[in-house]
Amino acid sequence: MVQNVAIIGAGISGLAALKCSLEAGLEATCFEKSDSVGGLWNYTEYAEDGRASIYRSVFTNACKEMMCYPDFPIPDEYPNYLHNSLFLDYLRLYVKHFDLARYIKFKTAVVSVQKCPDFQVTGRWKVITEQDGNRSSDIFDSVLICTGHHVHPNLPLHSFFGIERFTGRYMHNREYKEPAQYAGKRVLVVGLGNTGADIAVELSHTAQKVWLSTRSGSWIMSRVWDNGYPWDMVYLTRHQSFLNKVLPRAISDYLYESMMNKRFSHEMYGLVPLDRYVTA
Ligand SMILES: Cc1cc2nc3c(=O)[nH]c(=O)nc-3n(C[C@H](O)[C@H](O)[C@H](O)COP(=O)(O)OP(=O)(O)OC[C@H]3O[C@@H](n4cnc5c(N)ncnc54)[C@H](O)[C@@H]3O)c2cc1C
Ligand SMILES: *[C@@H]1O[C@H](CO)[C@@H](O)[C@H](O)[C@H]1NC(C)=O
Ligand SMILES: *[C@@H]1O[C@H](CO)[C@@H](O)[C@H](O)[C@H]1NC(C)=O
Repeated sequence: MVQNVAIIGAGISGLAALKCSLEAGLEATCFEKSDSVGGLWNYTEYAEDGRASIYRSVFTNACKEMMCYPDFPIPDEYPNYLHNSLFLDYLRLYVKHFDLARYIKFKTAVVSVQKCPDFQVTGRWKVITEQDGNRSSDIFDSVLICTGHHVHPNLPLHSFFGIERFTGRYMHNREYKEPAQYAGKRVLVVGLGNTGADIAVELSHTAQKVWLSTRSGSWIMSRVWDNGYPWDMVYLTRHQSFLNKVLPRAISDYLYESMMNKRFSHEMYGLVPLDRYVTA
């Protein structure tokens, strides 16, 4: 008997799960609570409840050869790194090419997944969905949860003493959309990851002053690497991972750090990561 599978979410992961399930001959149904595909890559002016939210200027930080599905290359005419709107276009091409839309139930949120009473014998799941306030339930042999991992903001206010007396505005980057509304303001960006660095740079063009705070440092690198190639094409290779495996740790760390210090000395800027090698 053909097994049926429920896939929750139609972002990158859900779409790949749907395509592969169909390819394997399973009967697949994908539930998506918004009215479109792409998950996080669909930029909206305001953060929506229960969906990850990005700022207007987000570009991919992996190059298009690394960022694409292996059996569906990103079109030749697209640039090396894609703006979020173009990456969303690509995901829509994928949906069209593999004819996935008819297996997706839009505006349908999964509200509960439970083991069936006969789970011990059948291994089946009862999936309850809600559409326009109406609930319905279906039985599935398996469930793939592809609901994303950037939905809930982490705002550790307890670690900022005196925050309750702070009269300015504070927020998680989930609510940050574009720099114009910070014109003339003094802004502190906490956290030197991809997002913190991106936002600090774009704010620096409009804000009066920007501080970027880092607890543990970071290797700062460009997407563009030797001879203008994307860094991940140059660095994430079999040759490189072979070297990393066979070289003594001290030597591979040294090579990595020299590469990271080619543009500027992290030590001079006080940026050497506390956990050194692992914080790329
Ligand atoms: C600012 C930013 C930049 C990033 N840049 C990159 C990058 O350059 N390269 C890279 O590889 N990764 C990047 N990422 C990581 C990103 O998480 C992945 O690229 C990818 O979007 C994750 O896809 P996903 O399908 O797991 O989740 P999502 O894209 O979050 O999709 C989840 C989907 O599930 C739906 N859903 C959730 N709950 C339910 C429910 N109960 N019922 C029905 N549907 C539900 C949501 O509506 C959504 O459509 C970035 C992340 C952020 C925040
Ligand atoms: C993005 O999401 C909004 C609301 O969830 C939706 O109305 C819109 O059609 C989506 N855009 C694209 C290009 O899919
Ligand atoms: C929800 O239920 C109402 C009342 O039974 C019905 O009129 C409506 O069409 C249903 N909506 C959906 C999306 O099924």
